[in-house]
Amino acid sequence: MTDLAGRTALITGAGQGIGRACAHVFGERGAKLILMDKNRKTLPGVEAELKAKGYHVQAHIIDLTYSKRLTNLMTEIRNRSHANILVNNAGFDRPGVTRKIDMGDFNAVIGIHLGVPFLLIKLLLPGMREDGWGRIINISSVYGTSGAKGEAAYCVAKAGVIGLTKTVAREAGLDGVTVNAIVPGLIRTPPMEKLPDKYKEPIIEQTLLGRMGEPEEVARVAAFLASDDASFVTGTTITVSGGWGI
Ligand SMILES: NC(=O)c1ccc[n+]([C@@H]2O[C@H](COP(=O)([O-])OP(=O)(O)OC[C@H]3O[C@@H](n4cnc5c(N)ncnc54)[C@H](O)[C@@H]3O)[C@@H](O)[C@H]2O)c1
Repeated sequence: MTDLAGRTALITGAGQGIGRACAHVFGERGAKLILMDKNRKTLPGVEAELKAKGYHVQAHIIDLTYSKRLTNLMTEIRNRSHANILVNNAGFDRPGVTRKIDMGDFNAVIGIHLGVPFLLIKLLLPGMREDGWGRIINISSVYGTSGAKGEAAYCVAKAGVIGLTKTVAREAGLDGVTVNAIVPGLIRTPPMEKLPDKYKEPIIEQTLLGRMGEPEEVARVAAFLASDDASFVTGTTITVSGGWGI
């Protein structure tokens, strides 16, 4: 399938998990790839896997929460390539209930899940607008729609991702840019594999398909949203949860 041929996708958090799967699926479909991750142990390996498959890849090791560094990198990248698909995926969690969470943790979680996507959208929208074509895919979470005890910052951030999605969809629709969010359920990525079974089992019990999802099952939905098959889809969320949280 080459439905993303001629497109360039910037994928954050591509060193593992859902971001890595997006890189593989988008590459397979013909997109050029710009990958970002802070993890210098994982990203070079992913870059090598993708290059071995013959995909066009540039990989950048960067902590995306350093806004100045990210802005400079984006200027540098713009001189040689032009991303018209953005997958805002990078993230981490700092658990805690509202009455106890450290504000540094709260701000860090809001920063990576909301601040970084906001800045990247702000930086990429003018180019997409000029082209009259663009695709923005933001990764939210079932917890962003339902809330969850002990995950205050994460839930607030992921709910914010949906607000960001709808806001930018309204602003950018007439420029040919679609903006959508994916709402994943429990997906088998490294942090979830490490999570003790006592946390995973109740979720799997409530998942209608009775299992965890695979990162590729999220990546294929992201590729659909990036493709022309989704040309009339904007401002919405697609839940990829095996039926958990419906
Ligand atoms: N796995 C799940 O069950 C699940 C469910 C719902 C939503 N999500 C969301 O999907 C996205 C990906 O999740 P995952 O499970 O693949 O996570 P993951 O931890 O496997 O991968 C996240 C990647 O983001 C990178 N990253 C984190 N902070 C960064 C920073 N400051 N700068 C640059 N890179 C950074 C990490 O190094 C890592 O490679 C996240 O936004 C997560 O909240 C995951």
